[in-house]
Amino acid sequence: MRRTNKNICLYCFGDLNAERECGACAKKADDSPSPLHHLPQRTIINKRYLFGKALGEGGFGITYLAWDIHLETKVAIKEYFPTCYATRTPKSNQVIINCESNKAASNRGLKRFIDEARTLTKLKHLPGIVTVHDFFTTNGTAYIVMEFLDGSSLKKYLARQDKLPVDKALAIIKPLIESLEQMHKIGLIHRDISPDNIIINKKREIKLIDFGTAKQSNLDGKTLSIVLKQGYAPEEQYRSHGEQGPWTDIYAIGVTIYYCLTGKMPPESIQRMYKDNILKPSELGVEISEQQEKALMKSLAVYSKNRYQDCGGLLKALYGQANGSKQTTMATSGTKVATTPTPKQKDSTPKTIAKKPAKPPTKTIEKKPAKKTKKTPEKKGLLGRLFGKKK
Ligand SMILES: Nc1ncnc2c1ncn2[C@@H]1O[C@H](COP(=O)(O)OP(=O)(O)OP(=O)(O)O)[C@@H](O)[C@H]1O
Ligand SMILES: [Mg+2]
Repeated sequence: MRRTNKNICLYCFGDLNAERECGACAKKADDSPSPLHHLPQRTIINKRYLFGKALGEGGFGITYLAWDIHLETKVAIKEYFPTCYATRTPKSNQVIINCESNKAASNRGLKRFIDEARTLTKLKHLPGIVTVHDFFTTNGTAYIVMEFLDGSSLKKYLARQDKLPVDKALAIIKPLIESLEQMHKIGLIHRDISPDNIIINKKREIKLIDFGTAKQSNLDGKTLSIVLKQGYAPEEQYRSHGEQGPWTDIYAIGVTIYYCLTGKMPPESIQRMYKDNILKPSELGVEISEQQEKALMKSLAVYSKNRYQDCGGLLKALYGQANGSKQTTMATSGTKVATTPTPKQKDSTPKTIAKKPAKPPTKTIEKKPAKKTKKTPEKKGLLGRLFGKKK
């Protein structure tokens, strides 16, 4: 049978037989229609990318599993689709912004999405960060083609594993901190690090995804938009004039490690400004060396001046004593140890605090768009304006 988009398995991209069963993975094709706002499965774009099902969907984008027909490889493609502003025209697949008043915010979001692609292309060589292969615009929106990471989010992985022992957790996280160190050196901060945005594969290699809120850290004195993930964000991310830098990502890494080790979230950073009752991992029954605990707690300091200022400092403190003695702080007796991670569906949702800064921000990110209203066709020329050429 000739291989066409109709008879390719959308799980492994092998060949389907006449019974619509895959010869490679043995799965039966799921030919049920995609949700109306998604690209229909088996859509081909640019004569190159065959779209399968969505891998995930956030407020501003839908990420699909897809097949690169030229390179014959799986890819993940993120489409800019602001759920609250946008609808999709059936058949043409055009993304339409449903209300005139939402267009400005949507355009800013699209610009941010394009920035995400550009940010990622600068980081291609870093092992702890997802690689971007391609970027294009069509259907009135934009697409980022990334390497497909065969694994699950660290959040799901932790839900299956419960807590991780210190050595395992630190070994998993290390390449990510090393890559962040390089990324910070070129002046970029991620600002949305959490187990949702870290993918872990079977070999326990991890990669950071979702650079939608990444920023230049050297915008001295400039207002930064307030974008944060509750629980993972340090206090400076709650302030439009809070000075953000590598220390901002270091706090989020600290929370991620803390969560891996304890199955619990530390109290929210702004709460800790009033009364800091964070418990050390050893107080929660975790066996951890004094040095490692000290390093972790320093990365979790409420005020940025008390944290490591760069990932180099954190790496040295957390891993520096690899050849030294392993002095272990025993679990505090009688402390109840959590056996399942705290449900934190709410905590891990990217959040924007709608707050108007005194001056207009240099770059604004609006993560939670307004509710759906009347439908009107998208204004022409948006992509042209953003890319400097007419689409
Ligand atoms: N390169 C990839 N390989 C495999 N799966 C991926 C990849 N990128 C994203 N995903 C999957 O898609 C999900 C959503 O991706 P991502 O975190 O980039 O966007 P989001 O959080 O849904 O959207 P938003 O940008 O609106 O916050 C991820 O949790 C992951 O499961
Ligand atoms: Mg995400």
